[in-house]
Amino acid sequence: MSIPIYTYDAVIVGAGLAGCAAARELQKAGKKVAVVTKLHPLRSHSGAAQGGINAAFSEADSVELHEFDTVKGSDYLADQDVVQFMCEKAPETIRWAERMGAAFSRNEDGTIAQRPFGGQSSPRACFAKDRTGLTLLQTIYEQAFREGVEFWDEWYVADLLYNEGKVYGVSAYNIRNSEKAIFNAKAVMFATGGYARAFKINSNAHANTGDGLSLVARHGLPLEDMEFVQFHPSGLSGNGVLISEAARGEGGKLLNSLGERFMEKYAPNAMELASRDVVARAIIQEIREGRGVGPRKDAVYIDLVHLGKEKIMERLPELRDLAITFLGLDMIKEPILISATAHYSMGGIPMDKHGHVRKNNTEFVEGFYAAGECSCSSVHGANRLGANSVLEALLFGRFVGKTMVNEVDSIELHPASEADAQRMIDEMQWVLTNNGQESVSALREELQQSMTDNAGVFRTAETLSKQMEILKDLRARYKNIRISDKSKIFNTELQEAIEFGHMLDYSLFIVASALDRKESRGAHFREDFPTRDDENFLKHTMAYMDENGNIKLDYMDVTLGRHELKARSY
Ligand code: FUM
Repeated sequence: MSIPIYTYDAVIVGAGLAGCAAARELQKAGKKVAVVTKLHPLRSHSGAAQGGINAAFSEADSVELHEFDTVKGSDYLADQDVVQFMCEKAPETIRWAERMGAAFSRNEDGTIAQRPFGGQSSPRACFAKDRTGLTLLQTIYEQAFREGVEFWDEWYVADLLYNEGKVYGVSAYNIRNSEKAIFNAKAVMFATGGYARAFKINSNAHANTGDGLSLVARHGLPLEDMEFVQFHPSGLSGNGVLISEAARGEGGKLLNSLGERFMEKYAPNAMELASRDVVARAIIQEIREGRGVGPRKDAVYIDLVHLGKEKIMERLPELRDLAITFLGLDMIKEPILISATAHYSMGGIPMDKHGHVRKNNTEFVEGFYAAGECSCSSVHGANRLGANSVLEALLFGRFVGKTMVNEVDSIELHPASEADAQRMIDEMQWVLTNNGQESVSALREELQQSMTDNAGVFRTAETLSKQMEILKDLRARYKNIRISDKSKIFNTELQEAIEFGHMLDYSLFIVASALDRKESRGAHFREDFPTRDDENFLKHTMAYMDENGNIKLDYMDVTLGRHELKARSY
């Protein structure tokens, strides 16, 4: 069978905000670019971002304050050169999006409205009601499409073409009919998004299975700071669907079963608007100590009734609909039930602030770039502030796209051959013909539940070691799977089996990195090491996987800057 080879200047994997922004820059500069994506771009998870996008442009605010809040929020693990770059470029990024057509919510005087979010010194989140991500995604996709970017949607990228320190394309298959192809390019960018689906209760789309990270790791390349998984304080009870931080930004109060506004105990100044790691831990602590609410006592209330119907309908209409649909509760009339939900991953494919992917602490991979949630720049360190991720995706997508424009002509095309599709063909064939007894959906359920139980908001050496054994067992049992759909047309069973392999791989990185970080910092809370230990752990984790699934850990320096290390309190 002959496999077509399509040649481009640049291939981008993923069509969320980062991928579309980069593609638009490349195409506008006259480069030939393809975006390969397993979803239609408008179904990308960027569209689910609700509450806002940060930029310091009010009189009460400043770039320096935005930087300070981000570094403090990160528990001082963020690389401050990258933070400075992001905060400086944030206001012009908002203007850029606005001029392309993004309709932000407005103040009476016509200026862009900004709402408070957690960990902010000043209201800084620009928003479009509670549909900020969708508004931006529609805008940027429309503009990329208008420039003539070629979108290969519903194509599943199954391998990265990598040889001797150079990336030169990807292999992929068409989900509609299993047709295979190679995309050969001088430059490849991964913008494959987040990967919180490894956890049972999560706010992520079904597609967020971390394929991009594991495709990189399977070539022996590192993943950075994978232990830092953000649990958003407010997911709908039972299913984790996001109830935006905007609900607390607009004045929502968290209450336990005694009717207490319990954040008084945990963050007396910032209260509900402390950083996410602090609020999520407080919620779980209240539940653990028996002050949970709801039929299973595994939630707390968020009360928005005092905001009144008009404000809720103007600012939070989507959230109201979600709570009615999933819980049957109308936030205009009564408090709704929420709890912590796996939401965002601070770790990922290591890159510098220009998007160059690291081969190790000192070298870079030629022709390979990353941006958005799959990447780790590390602008968020150990804990991301709300409304900095939409900013990161859009801003780094755009600027990494510009870097690629400047560099792509000097990169020599390494020609691909049909043999480059072999790993993809072998993997598909294996899944289709393997005749074991294990069901992928049952294994996935075990993975998600155990990750939530053992590598969730609170962790210890005991729970993490237990989880490592569970992962080894799941990996062994994965070799014994069987799927029943052998067809070529929209074979979602095949796709889910491949995706599950990726989930197992990157979960190993999360657990191994968490086990070795014997301190608590940001979203990584070790009950057996409850304090931050700058002497031994002010460093990034760089983790590598061998072909047997063994993880080797190394560490990399943090880039410090003008914001000095301090104890963190809210
Ligand atoms: O709560 C939210 O609206 C989520 C925003 C974010 O993760 O930045």
